[in-house]
Amino acid sequence: MFQGIDNDKIKEILRQHFTPSDHITTPERLLGRDRLLERIDRAFNSSGRLVFIYGDRGVGKSSLALTAAHLHNSAQSQPIHVNCSEHGTFESVLTAIGRAAVDVVERFESPGAAPSFNLTVMGNGVGYSPGNNGAARVNAPSDINEAVDIIRYVGSKRSGTVVIVIDEFERIKSVSERMKFAELIKNFPDDGGRIHLIICGIASTVDELLGAHPSAGRRLETVEVQRLHHDQLWKIITNAADKVNVEVGRETLIRIGMISDGFPHYVHLIGESLFWAMHDDEKVVSKCKARHYKAGIAEAIGRSDAIYKAAYNTATKKTKNTADYENALWALADHNDLQRQLGDIYKSYLHIVAQLNRLEGLGGEDRKEPIARTALNSRLQRLRDPNHGEIIIGHGAGWFSFRENVIRGYVRLVAEEKGLELARDNFIPK
Ligand SMILES: Nc1ncnc2c1ncn2[C@@H]1O[C@H](COP(=O)(O)OP(=O)(O)O)[C@@H](O)[C@H]1O
Ligand SMILES: [Mg+2]
Repeated sequence: MFQGIDNDKIKEILRQHFTPSDHITTPERLLGRDRLLERIDRAFNSSGRLVFIYGDRGVGKSSLALTAAHLHNSAQSQPIHVNCSEHGTFESVLTAIGRAAVDVVERFESPGAAPSFNLTVMGNGVGYSPGNNGAARVNAPSDINEAVDIIRYVGSKRSGTVVIVIDEFERIKSVSERMKFAELIKNFPDDGGRIHLIICGIASTVDELLGAHPSAGRRLETVEVQRLHHDQLWKIITNAADKVNVEVGRETLIRIGMISDGFPHYVHLIGESLFWAMHDDEKVVSKCKARHYKAGIAEAIGRSDAIYKAAYNTATKKTKNTADYENALWALADHNDLQRQLGDIYKSYLHIVAQLNRLEGLGGEDRKEPIARTALNSRLQRLRDPNHGEIIIGHGAGWFSFRENVIRGYVRLVAEEKGLELARDNFIPK
């Protein structure tokens, strides 16, 4: 437990500081993104300019977008946040934006029935009527003019500045649907700088839009979100530590920073678990100890994002060679370089097997013998297959990387629990 902090108080503090499963929406909690917020601010100030935020999954795109959106959106309402989905289309996203402008109570409790947008009947401009047929009916825009009308309609329903965030753009599978957004970008009605649009996606989706429609590109401010630096990752922990008057040592901060690999999700997750472990300690805790750290790591694995866990299990849990697959993933994750070559991965692998033997006290005949380099290569090749979830990508000539960089954090977390310190030599203090 912490001196003078009861159960309710600790809950409140942890809820405020750790959000492993939620976006950040306030600048005080958004660490290390001041320059990017400023760039977005300036882009919004420039007539007709829209923002495309791109970067790896889990790096903090939505948090940046929503914080910027909250900063700029008129205080009387919330920004509009629409998530794309696999089967999403241009029409469905625009319809969702239109609906978001109608208050949810109004949508469900209008007398008689759900409301609908009536684009075709109104001709010029989007009409909105409470409806009376008992079913939600939102007409999808049939062309770009109707899509533009929806944006104008949203602007007319709100007073002051409106920020619309189209999130997870890369999830829309159909290229032709994604391409339709280029038209919207070109024709976006910003109503004299009152309506702003932010799209979030991965790098390839922005390249695709720009490649196919250079004229849309001229209106887009592209903002790349990079992984967070160590000092910002540490601040996530130390900000909370200051609130409960506990000291978290430098070594612990370095380890957490290394595991998370610049992806804040893992720091929030480990941090939250770590503070609960200290709170659960019967003695008063003034300094984070190894036992708290261990408990925090174990707990964090269980609570990791299900997507990352599933990817790891699909890749490694096989009837044969499970240990080899795990060791191969650990070896690939043993360095900060995103792409690594077989020779280097094999060196990491040998080091890992030696560490495992030491950790498990195996010597002499009991020692686990490493597999040969060619065998490791074939395990890595296998990990690119669909039945291993394609967790790895091969780049030719013995070069490999994880398909999604964010997975490396989970791989490092699992290794850490086994007592393996991956990427230990990579830490470069600022
Ligand atoms: N700048 C930041 N400082 C601290 N935590 C952050 C920051 N950006 C994101 N996070 C946290 O990291 C996790 C992932 O962020 P998110 O915005 O959902 O990433 P993305 O949209 O790129 O997948 C969330 O738990 C969020 O609370
Ligand atoms: Mg996101």
